[in-house]
Amino acid sequence: MSNLESRLAELEKLSAPLEPNSQERSNLLNGVNAYAEDFIENTEKRPSYFQSDQKIESLKIDGKSKNLGEILELYHKDVTQRGINPASGGHLGYIPGGGIYTSAIADFLADVTNEYGGMYFGSPGAVQIEHEVLNWLKKVFGYPSSAIGNLPSGGSIANLTALTAARDHFKILENDVSKCVIYMSEQVHHCVQKALRIIGLAKATIRYIPLDEFHRMSADSLKNQIQEDRNMGLTPRILIASAGTTDTGAIDPMNELADIAEIENLWFHVDAAYGGFFILCQDKKEAFKGIERSDSLVVDPHKGLFLPYGVGAVLVKNREAVLESHHYIANYMQDAYKEDMPLNPADVSPELTKHFRALRVWLPLQLHGIDPFIACLDEKLLLTEYFRKSLSENGFILGPEPDLSVSYFWFPRSNNENAFNQRLLELIHKDGRVFLSSTVLNDQFVIRMAILAFRTKKATIDKTMDMILDCLETVKKEFDA
Ligand SMILES: Cc1ncc(COP(=O)(O)O)c(C=O)c1O
Repeated sequence: MSNLESRLAELEKLSAPLEPNSQERSNLLNGVNAYAEDFIENTEKRPSYFQSDQKIESLKIDGKSKNLGEILELYHKDVTQRGINPASGGHLGYIPGGGIYTSAIADFLADVTNEYGGMYFGSPGAVQIEHEVLNWLKKVFGYPSSAIGNLPSGGSIANLTALTAARDHFKILENDVSKCVIYMSEQVHHCVQKALRIIGLAKATIRYIPLDEFHRMSADSLKNQIQEDRNMGLTPRILIASAGTTDTGAIDPMNELADIAEIENLWFHVDAAYGGFFILCQDKKEAFKGIERSDSLVVDPHKGLFLPYGVGAVLVKNREAVLESHHYIANYMQDAYKEDMPLNPADVSPELTKHFRALRVWLPLQLHGIDPFIACLDEKLLLTEYFRKSLSENGFILGPEPDLSVSYFWFPRSNNENAFNQRLLELIHKDGRVFLSSTVLNDQFVIRMAILAFRTKKATIDKTMDMILDCLETVKKEFDA
């Protein structure tokens, strides 16, 4: 055997652990499955929030091999038992979703087969599945089949993609950016402001349009502002609306905004990352009317379809605008392009190599059908009503009735109201039975409730009320002492 051959034989042996044999694979899977079973079976019995200020030292990589049991112990102690448990029905903060099991199964399959999600040439089936998910979304939102789209990692990147298309449609960077006007409300998600910075529009003129008493953008104020801007010699360009605001669960008036966008030749973008899938609920269809007239929209399956984190969606009607910034053929990619091929996800996104994340949307929809998803969304709307009623009966002041499943409340005090409610939330976090977050609205500290985790049930809300009332009693004693 030559030196080269003996070195190769040696390296083959040394790298063999990267391909566990059938028995080893079974052992690994059984170990992880046992952990997953215990996690799911007990997740509603455990706290939803583990307050943890200690630095985590145990997760460092030392380059040495360890057994799975040891690793799972660390995972339990230092990953799942710290911070929020996002899989829990008691996660009522930020925007939850839960992470349905059948999507995790899809991830497993996608990872074992390692299908290439970026180019049709490399994996026609995987890319077709992404197109089928997008086709389904187009139907759900009344978009034409000619629209294009992409499944990025989440709502932030999806908004970035849509706003980049708007920028390129108007070739904004080729002119005086500061003359370009972008309209939104103060309730827009902050990933929008981040996206505008990233795509070179930080110096555009941003107009925050006033809201009505339900936190929806006022169409009349928008009209007046556009007129004023035109009179000042500015160029109105982009209108960003929300169909489900993160803090207040409000849907901006879609049809009225679409009318204005049409007349004023604005790119009408709708961020429906949180709220979009409520369009599937019979009682909410009316509130979304007009969303089909937008130029682009964002919706997050890892929110309203309850999938594990890692998948958003963007739809854009103007194909050329998207391709302008993302389509590129490098020499080493020349084999991958053929006439009449379905669009490559890589031509619609900054990503080339792409996790086959379409499968995590497609497989649960195929396995369950759509009805259980709709039932779960309907349930979240009713639980919001139920929670708000209990809060009101117990003396809390509520924000206005939300269009969807995010709302806010506070306990009234004649003085130190903000400090009182801040302390109440601190105690709620210390308790941890259920996790709630806070926000500031009109300079007031308020506690948010975001009901979107698929495991949130009536019993969760009852538990939440018990916890809030226990904490309220303590804070009252502290403040009245
Ligand atoms: C309305 C809205 N848009 C965008 C985002 C950002 O989405 P992601 O966290 O998936 O990037 C969120 C997140 O909560 C949101 O609520």
